[in-house]
Amino acid sequence: MTYQELFQKYKTKLNKDQELSAIELIVLEVNKFSKQDLILNYNKQVSNLDKIETLISKYLNGEPVQYLLGYAYFYGDKFWVTKDVLIPRFDSEILIDVILKHVDKTKGYRILDIGTGSGNLAITLKKLLPNAIIDAVDISISALEVARKNARYHKVDINFIQSDLFSNVTCKYDLIVSNPPYVKKDDLLSQYVLQEPKLALIAENEGLYYYEKILKQISRYLNDKYLIFFEIGINQNSKVKEYAEKYLGAEAKIYLDFNSIPRVVMIEGDNNENNT
Ligand SMILES: C[S@@+](CC[C@H](N)C(=O)[O-])C[C@H]1O[C@@H](n2cnc3c(N)ncnc32)[C@H](O)[C@@H]1O
Repeated sequence: MTYQELFQKYKTKLNKDQELSAIELIVLEVNKFSKQDLILNYNKQVSNLDKIETLISKYLNGEPVQYLLGYAYFYGDKFWVTKDVLIPRFDSEILIDVILKHVDKTKGYRILDIGTGSGNLAITLKKLLPNAIIDAVDISISALEVARKNARYHKVDINFIQSDLFSNVTCKYDLIVSNPPYVKKDDLLSQYVLQEPKLALIAENEGLYYYEKILKQISRYLNDKYLIFFEIGINQNSKVKEYAEKYLGAEAKIYLDFNSIPRVVMIEGDNNENNT
């Protein structure tokens, strides 16, 4: 079978959640091909066909391609993933873009990432803000192992702490970022999302539980001048804005993602200003 025949064969077997690009990724990974290699070999016989077809059938049976390959890309970088962590999402890249708009890249901010998962946000921030000191917490010990592996891979220094939100946090921060679980319990999820850890996805109270819990406790972990950034789910902006007002007396700003959906909440505060 040629590469062209392989793609034709599987094109017809995809359902609406499945993409030919995932099959291409499997082919590239197994044969250590670049896209250019694939183009040059398109009419040649497929190498490692058995291995490729085994992975393709796992993908067609609902296994995310990122778990099959063991990695995903975030903000242009490779991050190792296992079934213990959420697969980094393209949607979350906007969180990094919004943060970059509000910080001075040369400053030594103290930053906390809550629910770090694979460490993608904390590690990307450390690479972009090298003078920052970053702590990253997660309740899941196995997620933290993946995050530590990613930090070693990217050669960045991050202090990973096992913590139920703030339970093991002792410092105050200039900037706190979180992409907490925010999927509602009764939301219909694709077969691929269902393979990801429930702990990373589902939140009580219509998906709003973590925003409220974090904002209720956050004030004692903030320096006088602070920035908070949350990724949010669809239609969660007004409730999270309400929590910011209720627990911090602060006005939140909302930023849209690439599909014009409200995706990031930013809360900027200056407690010195309030005192004068
Ligand atoms: C939506 S994932 C975000 C992962 C990663 N930061 C990202 O943006 O791709 C949420 C993360 O929060 C963690 N988590 C869930 N409950 C937590 C809690 N009570 N305290 C700390 N982390 C928690 C999960 O283990 C998961 O890694």
